[in-house]
Amino acid sequence: MTTLITNIKELLQVREISIEKVSGKDMQHLPTIKNAFLLVENDMIADFGDMTNLPNINADKIIDAKGKMVLPSWCDSHTHIVYAGNREQEFVDRINGLTYEEIANRGGGILNSAKTLQNTTEDDLYQQSIPRVKEVIKLGTGAIEIKSGYGLTTEAELKMLRVAKRIQKDFPVLVKTTFLGAHALPLDYKNRKDDFLDLVIDEILPKVAEENLADYIDVFCEKGYFSLNDTERILEAGKVHNLIPKIHVNQFNAFGGVALGVKHNALSVDHLEELNPEDITALQGSNTMPVALPSCSYFLSIPYTPARQLIDAGLPLALATDYNPGSTPSGNMNFVVSTACIKMKMTPEEAINAATINGAYAMGLSNQCGSITKGKKANLIVTKEIPSYGFLPYSFGNNHIDSVIIAGNVIY
Ligand code: NIG
Ligand code: FE
Repeated sequence: MTTLITNIKELLQVREISIEKVSGKDMQHLPTIKNAFLLVENDMIADFGDMTNLPNINADKIIDAKGKMVLPSWCDSHTHIVYAGNREQEFVDRINGLTYEEIANRGGGILNSAKTLQNTTEDDLYQQSIPRVKEVIKLGTGAIEIKSGYGLTTEAELKMLRVAKRIQKDFPVLVKTTFLGAHALPLDYKNRKDDFLDLVIDEILPKVAEENLADYIDVFCEKGYFSLNDTERILEAGKVHNLIPKIHVNQFNAFGGVALGVKHNALSVDHLEELNPEDITALQGSNTMPVALPSCSYFLSIPYTPARQLIDAGLPLALATDYNPGSTPSGNMNFVVSTACIKMKMTPEEAINAATINGAYAMGLSNQCGSITKGKKANLIVTKEIPSYGFLPYSFGNNHIDSVIIAGNVIY
């Protein structure tokens, strides 16, 4: 099956030679071809170029993209899209004055979601998660990472990851999974944190590894959750099972989690709403991708990750949604890209690089997606007729997607 897209007003994120990620000043550069064609063969990008060089092809299907842009699908490297129920009541409680921390301290927050999930069957959890997966695909996401962490028991953590694996199997998007056993301390383990870490490390983790349920290991390294020592224990244990770290750090407090992640060769360190100069130094020269989650900052009214500081220090930056019931009940990467420009002073070029190739890097998928490169998966966004690519973040909150192509098939 071949699909030829012709008359593309501008083809974005064109990388003739595959790159892993873009950093610092290079993020300002978004290579494009105006008046372009793109050829898809089966599920792959087979060719692209200027319309004036359009080869004589007998394609099975032709899409005329006159006035429209084509770009690689969004790569959302941080989500908790598998969850049960919702936390609308806590949302109202916060409106009425309680803080996220206060809600968590009285047994709400992550523990609230865990309780609901523990009482949900695997099949029901899958059924509840599917509409969200379909929704984000429609919004242009073509690669997604999915975490556990709302189980907090052996059974429920495995249930979450099995659902994530079913999504990987049943949907054409690229999916990576992450074991986030140390997300919060269950009430039964109050004042017995080491016992809970023992459970995560000695009981849950080996089962996760045995069933091959996760690519990565995560931990919520935060005051009131898991300390540097706890984090180190988890990451060391993950290493035994070849699970690379991708960790939650610096959401509310900066106390050395970034350097610890770098020390353990984390693929990414995510959140970073709080950032110290030492965190930047730790990231310099490392292979660890900093990941910002602006819709979490938006929803919780907490600071935005200081993107300018990171990029101006020569570092790369990826953007992701953090889709979850507590801090970010939205998986809209278009909103993330807009918010990064509006609130974090990223340029459209930087934000698009951050949401495509750098997001792919943060999932270990740079060789498969995140740019228009021959041999990469044909996961693409075709926009409506828009004046320029800067219009995508500028005209925020509006849907500029005409259609989505996943693995070579027009999905929506
Ligand atoms: O990334 N920060 C930790 N975990 C999630 C949200 C947890 C929740 O409130 O359910 C996050 O924001
Ligand atoms: Fe998260």
